[in-house]
Amino acid sequence: MSISRREFVYSAAGVAAVGLGGKMATLGAQDSPPEKTDATGGPLVISSANGLAACRKAMEMIRNGSDPLDAVVAGVNLVEDDPADHSVGLGGLPNEDGVVELDASVMHGPTHKAGGVAALRNIRNPSRVAMLVMQRTDHVLLVGDGALQFAKAHGFKEEELLTDEARRIWLEWKENHSDRDDWVYPEASEEAAHRLRDAGLEFTYGTINCCCLTAAGDLAGVTTTSGLSYKIPGRVGDSPIIGAGLYVDNDIGAAGSTGRGEANLLNCASFMVVEFMRQGRTPEEAALAVLRRITAKCEKRLLVGDGRPNFGLTFYAVRKDGLIGGASMRGEGKMAYHDGTTCRQVTIPGLFPVRPEKHAQGQ
Ligand code: GLY
Repeated sequence: MSISRREFVYSAAGVAAVGLGGKMATLGAQDSPPEKTDATGGPLVISSANGLAACRKAMEMIRNGSDPLDAVVAGVNLVEDDPADHSVGLGGLPNEDGVVELDASVMHGPTHKAGGVAALRNIRNPSRVAMLVMQRTDHVLLVGDGALQFAKAHGFKEEELLTDEARRIWLEWKENHSDRDDWVYPEASEEAAHRLRDAGLEFTYGTINCCCLTAAGDLAGVTTTSGLSYKIPGRVGDSPIIGAGLYVDNDIGAAGSTGRGEANLLNCASFMVVEFMRQGRTPEEAALAVLRRITAKCEKRLLVGDGRPNFGLTFYAVRKDGLIGGASMRGEGKMAYHDGTTCRQVTIPGLFPVRPEKHAQGQ
C-alpha cells in the first residue's frame, strides 16, 4: 500500500490495522485522528478538545516561521483570554475562597528547556509567564507570590480574573456543597443542587494542553489551567509540573494531559507517555498503557464498582514521526488537531466505558 506524505489514513469502520511505509499503525474508532506517515510532510498541532482555535493559531504561526513554542503559547492565549472558557485564565473557576489561581508549564523540544508557574493570581496568561521563566531565569518553576512578582517585573498587569459568570457558578457551589455551614442557596432547594451536579460543575479539572510538531521535526508543548475548581487555596495540580501535565522530548514526541492532576503527579504520567512512545508504541497505545498503570496504582477510595477510577483523565500525544493520538480514562474522549489542511475534533478511545457515577470528577 503506497501512501504519499500528504495523505492520511482513516479507519472506515471500527478498529483496523493499516500498513504505513512498513509500519503497522493501529487506528481507532471511525473518526479517529489521522495517523501521519512522516514528520517532514508538514507541521501538526494537537490539543485537548477545547483547543480548536489554539490549533488554528499555532498552525498559522508555524507556517509563518514562528518558533513552535511561541506558536502553541499564542494558541492557548486565545483560550486563556476567553471569559467563556471556565477552565483557564480569565473566567477560570476559582478556589474554595473564590480566588482564581492558575498553573501552567511550557516545554521547548529543541533546547530541552522548560518553565512553569503555579498558584499564580491576577495574571490571565500564566503560559506566557511560564515561557518567561524558561527564557529569563535559571529556574524551571515559580509559585505563588514569587510568580506574581516575576510577572509584574516583566510588565504583566494584575486584574480580577473572577468573572461574574464564574462567581455565580462558585457561589452556587458554595451554597450547595454542604448543609453544615451558613451558606444557603436562595431557593434552598434540592433542585438547585441537582442542577449543579447535572451541569458538571461540582468539580472540574478543566485545562488546555497544546503540542506541535514542525516540518523540521521540532516539538513543543504547553499546558495551562485554573486547576481543580473550588480547590484548597494553594493546591497545585499537574499542569505546571514537567513530566506530569506536560513532557516533550525532541527525539521522541510530546504529551500532555487534562483531568485529575493528582493522578498524573503520582505517576509522572506525561513523561511516561513519551517513554512508552520511545519504546515504539503509538501515541494511543502509550496513552492507554499509562491509564492502565494509573488504574493499577490508584487508591482504593477512588475506585468504583469493578475497579475503575472515579475520575476523568485524558492524554494527547504526538510522536516525532507524525503519529498523533490519545486516550481517556472514562469513555471516549475528544482531541483537536490541525494537520495543515484540516482542523477538527476527533474521538479518542476510553479505557473504561462511561457509567453514571456519584461524585465522579470531570476531565
Ligand atoms: N489537570 C489539571 C489539574 O488537575 O489541575
